Amino acid sequence: LVEKVPLAPADKILGLTAFYNRDPNPKKINLTVGVYQDAWGKVTTFPSVAKSQKLIDNDLLLNKNLSYLPITGCKDFETNVMNFLFKESMHHPELIEQDRISFIQTLSGTGAVAIAASFLSTFITNEISVPNYSWANHTNIFTKNGFPSVDYYPYYDRKTGQIDFQNWINHLKNLPFLGKPRGILLHASCHNPTGLDPTRQQWEKIIDTIYELKMIPVIDMAYQGLETGNLIEDAHLLRLCLNTDKYPHWNNGIFLCQSFAKNMGLYGERVGSLSIVLPEADSQLKERVNSQLKRIVRGIYSSPPGYGSRIANVLLSTPNLKKQWFKDVKSMVERLQSVRLAMFERLNWPDLINKESNHGMFYFTRFSEGQVNELRTKYGIYLTLDGRLSLSGVNNYNVDYLCEALQNVSKL
Ligand code: LMR
Repeated sequence: LVEKVPLAPADKILGLTAFYNRDPNPKKINLTVGVYQDAWGKVTTFPSVAKSQKLIDNDLLLNKNLSYLPITGCKDFETNVMNFLFKESMHHPELIEQDRISFIQTLSGTGAVAIAASFLSTFITNEISVPNYSWANHTNIFTKNGFPSVDYYPYYDRKTGQIDFQNWINHLKNLPFLGKPRGILLHASCHNPTGLDPTRQQWEKIIDTIYELKMIPVIDMAYQGLETGNLIEDAHLLRLCLNTDKYPHWNNGIFLCQSFAKNMGLYGERVGSLSIVLPEADSQLKERVNSQLKRIVRGIYSSPPGYGSRIANVLLSTPNLKKQWFKDVKSMVERLQSVRLAMFERLNWPDLINKESNHGMFYFTRFSEGQVNELRTKYGIYLTLDGRLSLSGVNNYNVDYLCEALQNVSKL
């Protein structure tokens, strides 16, 4: 009954900004959410995106059609994004030519994971392994979409700050077989929340194991471009999985959940996609999969929003804007790297600048909840409770204050 509805806990990431907003401390710093801010603390629009918006504003055809998009999204978006992902980023044009990809436009990466979860739990499996740690919302998405619970595989060794590589492999090998294939969630790059990615050699061993065990890769690619500053380079995990010499046949396909929130800065426009790379070219199978994806989408939000996908379309199909976009992503990554360096100069914590394995928007402090709370109450510095620090909120104005506080709290 409605009177009995219990209070849900505040969201582990987005819920913290409400506390930050209420904090009267004039020196407060919000390092919770993964939204890129420039050196002045502003969430600005990338030049490539601003120019794409201008083109849309000036083009009556693009501008005036506010009708519904199809359930699976805009057709041009599908063409542009599939070309960008599968031809340019992964070097597998044949997947498009053979019509092997079931594709839908989604409400960013969250929407892609949610639709993938709903599809998997309805037709294939309700078992999934998720890294420990992972994005705070992953467990929530799977358990709200047909998975009774999730299994956590060792990912991060908190003591050493390294990938818990051998335990990860052993854990997967020792999972009981319950009669169904199992999904495994992988972060394509810039692992959230730790910022720590396996090396390329480690990835190879991990994917070998996943393939041997006939698991279903569910790849969350929310940060393409933020690892190396090069959008193409960063699709390396997908290129590895699609290496047919090593992995000729993924029995239940590969699920790619992708987002333009971070790398185009289109956070609030909810622009992303779900691609299911089918095990083989089979137009009837593709039609059946697509038909079920449509039913899921129709039952939740009917069809995706239009504006953000138009921006992505203009950007991806206009060569000079696309070139500008690559530059914009590179500048963002350069600034994040300069923040890491500025913090390293003050703290001397080597993992801040270990470029081989530490990437992206987040730095994982390994602080306990007590230390995170101390940062908040004593200094007005907000991290997520797991100790994740969003580097993009750091700038020349607050870096000294921040590092002094981090140094003090690290001694507790
Ligand atoms: C984050 O991890 O901070 C971002 O992905 C934003 C979100 O939706 O949680």
